[in-house]
Amino acid sequence: MTNYIWKKDSTEAVDGRVMRFLAGDDVVLDRLLLPFDVRASQAHARGLARNGVLSADQAEAMVVSMNKLLAAFESGEFLLDERFEDGHSAIESWLTDQLGEIGGRIHAGRSRNDQVAVALRLYMKDRLARLGEVCARIATVCLARAEAEKDVPLPGHTHLQQAMPSSLGLWWAGHAEAFIDNVELAGRIGHWLDASPLGTASGFGVNFDLDRDGVAEDLGFARLLVNPQYAQNARGKTELRALDALSAATGDLRRLSWDLSLFASQEFGFVRIPAAFCTGSSIMPNKLNPDTVELLRSLHAQCVGARAELEAVLSLPSGYQRDLQDTKPALLRAFERGLAGLDLVPDLLAGLSWNNQTMRAAIAPALHATDLANELVGQGKSFREAYRQAAAEIDTLDRRSPEDSLKQRVSPGACANLRLETLHSRLSNLLQK
Ligand code: ARG
Repeated sequence: MTNYIWKKDSTEAVDGRVMRFLAGDDVVLDRLLLPFDVRASQAHARGLARNGVLSADQAEAMVVSMNKLLAAFESGEFLLDERFEDGHSAIESWLTDQLGEIGGRIHAGRSRNDQVAVALRLYMKDRLARLGEVCARIATVCLARAEAEKDVPLPGHTHLQQAMPSSLGLWWAGHAEAFIDNVELAGRIGHWLDASPLGTASGFGVNFDLDRDGVAEDLGFARLLVNPQYAQNARGKTELRALDALSAATGDLRRLSWDLSLFASQEFGFVRIPAAFCTGSSIMPNKLNPDTVELLRSLHAQCVGARAELEAVLSLPSGYQRDLQDTKPALLRAFERGLAGLDLVPDLLAGLSWNNQTMRAAIAPALHATDLANELVGQGKSFREAYRQAAAEIDTLDRRSPEDSLKQRVSPGACANLRLETLHSRLSNLLQK
C-alpha cells in the first residue's frame, strides 16, 4: 500500500520494509476492532452533523456507506489486509471510494489516536460483558451440580494430603462462588472503563466545540474521558484492568482444571472427563488424555504474559507514542483465546461423571479424627485434650459413615449448610444489574 491517508505531496516515497515493520500485524488485529471502529465512526459522523461540519445528508450517506462496509467485511467480500495501513485508514478509504471527496470529511475533529482508543474501549466493554456472561454460565452449572450432588462424599485435602470428609456439594459450591465473584469483577471493571475518549483527537482536542457528550451517549458510554492527554495516557492502563478481570477468571479456571486433572488420574479415579474433551495418544493405544483441561489450565499463563507485556510497553511519557500500538496484541490475543476457552467450560462441567464409590472408599477412618475430637469437646473436654485423645486413637479408629460426618458439618457454608440459596441470589442480583 502506498496511498497513506497522511501522505502529503511532498512526502518522499516510503520504504516498504519500514511500513511493513510499522504496521506489524496491525491490520490483522484490527479485524477484531473494525466493527467497533465503524460504530464509533458512524456516531462521529452524526456528531459532526450536529456541529454543522457535515450536512445531515452527508452524515447519513456516510452512515449508510459504513453499514455496507460492515456487511461486506462480515461476508468476507471486504478484506482488511496489507492494502491498508490499519483499520482506521481502511474506513476512510472505503468512504472516499464510495462517496468521493465527502469521505475525507470523516476525519474532521478526530485523529487515529482517539479512533483506536474508542474502538478499544468498545471492544473491552463488549468482551467484559461476554466474560461476565460466561462466568455466570459456569457458576450456574456449578450451583446446579452442587445441589444435585450435595451429599456425595469426597475426601477433602489440604497440602494434597487427605484431611477430612468433604462433599461434592462443597467442592462445586466453592467453584461456583469463585465464578460469581468473577461476574461481579467483570461488571465493575466494565463500568470503570465505560468512558468515551472520542473527540480528544491527537491528545489536544480540536478547534471547534465537538458534541463529545452526545457522541458518547450515542455510543452507549456512561461518561466522557474528559482530558485529551489522559485519553492517550489511559491506553494500556485500561487494558491492564480489563486483563485483571479476565485473569481472575482464568486463575480460578486454573485451579478448577488442576482439581479435575488430579481427580481424573488413575491414582485418584474420582471423575471421568467426557471423551469429547479428550484426545488419544499417537503411540499408546490405552490413552485418553484430558488435553482440554490442560489447555484450560494454561490459559492463565497467557493472561499473565499479556499483563507483563503491557507493563513493559507502558514505560512511556505522556501523550500518544507509537509504542501504544504494541498494547493491542497482548490484549486481543488474551481475550480471544481466554473467552474461547471459558466458553467450553459449562459443557465440560456438565458432562463430568463422578465415581461415587471410589470417592467414598477413599475416605479412610483417620479422616474422622477431627469429628472425634469435636465429639469429645461435646462431652465436656477441652479441645486440646480431645485433640490429643483423638490423635492417640488414629490407627485404631473404626470406619465410620462419611454421610454421618457430613451431616454434622453445620456451620454456614459447610457441607450440611452450603447456603446455595445465598449464592444463587447473589448471582441473580448481579445478572439483573
Ligand atoms: N495502530 C495505531 C495504534 O494502535 C493507531 C494509531 C496511529 N496513530 C499515529 N499517530 N500513528 O496506536
